[in-house]
Amino acid sequence: MKTHARTHAIHGLRAACLAAALSAAPTALPAPAAPDCRAANGWDAACLRRLYAAPAAAWPAPEVEAGVAWQELGPVPAVAPTPADNPGTPARVELGRRLFFDPRLSAKGELSCAGCHRPEKAFTDGKPLAVGEDRLMGRRRTPPLLAAPFAPRLFWDGRAGSLEEQVVGPIANPVEMNHPLPQAVARIKGLDEYRAPWRAAFGTADPDEATLAQALAAFVRTLRPEATAFDRFLAGDAAALSDGALTGLHLFRTKAGCLNCHYGPLLTDHGFHDIGLSFYGRRNQDLGRFEVTRNKADLGAFRTPSLRNVARAGPWMHNGIFPDLKGLLRMYNAGMGNLTPKATAEADPYRPRKSPLIRARQLDEAEIDALHAFLEAL
Ligand code: HEC
Ligand code: HEC
Repeated sequence: MKTHARTHAIHGLRAACLAAALSAAPTALPAPAAPDCRAANGWDAACLRRLYAAPAAAWPAPEVEAGVAWQELGPVPAVAPTPADNPGTPARVELGRRLFFDPRLSAKGELSCAGCHRPEKAFTDGKPLAVGEDRLMGRRRTPPLLAAPFAPRLFWDGRAGSLEEQVVGPIANPVEMNHPLPQAVARIKGLDEYRAPWRAAFGTADPDEATLAQALAAFVRTLRPEATAFDRFLAGDAAALSDGALTGLHLFRTKAGCLNCHYGPLLTDHGFHDIGLSFYGRRNQDLGRFEVTRNKADLGAFRTPSLRNVARAGPWMHNGIFPDLKGLLRMYNAGMGNLTPKATAEADPYRPRKSPLIRARQLDEAEIDALHAFLEAL
């Protein structure tokens, strides 16, 4: 809060000075363009440090495509938007937490939400594809839950419109907790230890599907990324980022083009893009958002994940296809290649169209290392 107030005060002051300067000297020259900090053999870290010593609002302009409604990177808000009919009271959050860690929500009592969404792994499970009760395997990777409190649509394909709608899905899903909701609710009803907390949260000791969903959603809404070196840097500790990570921050915002989609405090636009990983026409085809909307513009599009705590969240992407971040960065640098079989006609109306924002970026190995260091600081 304090830092915010200060930043606003600085802005107010700047604006006032600017207004005064403009009225006093209408012919004043525009401010000189920021130096671009390129050195003969790479990037001049000392120069970048000077540019990024300012509050984020005064960082050098990013390189984003026209029409992208980007926001600057920044600290993650403490409070997430909350629906009026499910206030995040401490009693609801606490009840939701107990349920999230309780394996008895699954049919055989072996798998809790946290069994797949593990707090120490950015709420993922470290596996390429989710593994449910009885070892049944799902089709997609367990996503980190760090963007979920702020996302207008949930799941890799956005098929749920609210956390309340989303959180009970995995209980009934046969390849997740395999527990039809009426039976899951009956199980909870039979557990005396939930009576008092249910009453405290909802005024009744009698659980039902709606209150089960509300409690879990209230808890998920409180999940925040663990504070990292990048947060210390944002709070004014310049030494928190190494030269490499700082160079990576600059590349992320400029030459590498990442800020086109990964922006704002959580480093996501909450949007859907085809970055070229749909495996169209191949064995592991997943057409993403299209499978929900059946709108051809959504072919192969997946939700942009948050990059907060991303180094802990691997293997990465909706299908867990990248076991290491450097390989992932090399693929981005190459424009993600082309996974569509050669025989597939260009004119095929179902052929997913990779976003024009995904293209070769001419980063050298040192620049890829710098981006990697930045991702590790997030
Ligand atoms: C078997 C592993 C598994 C279990 C158990 C599990 N999930 Fe998930 N969760 C997933 C997978 C996989 C997805 C993504 C599915 C998709 O996008 O199609 C997901 C998606 C989510 C999302 C959406 C996140 C986002 O940003 O889109 C939330 C929230 C969530 N789960 C909460 C829960 C809760 C609450 C429970 C317990 C009731 C739970 N999960 C149990 C694997 C699991
Ligand atoms: C066109 C928008 C777009 C651009 C530009 C973009 N990304 Fe992504 N990013 C996405 C989407 C969408 C996904 C998920 C795709 C999937 O799972 O199939 C993703 C996934 C990722 C992941 C995996 C996260 C996880 O939890 O699985 C990382 C890491 C990542 N991006 C980093 C970057 C970096 C670094 C850049 C710049 C070099 C970049 N992205 C540029 C949209 C974009």
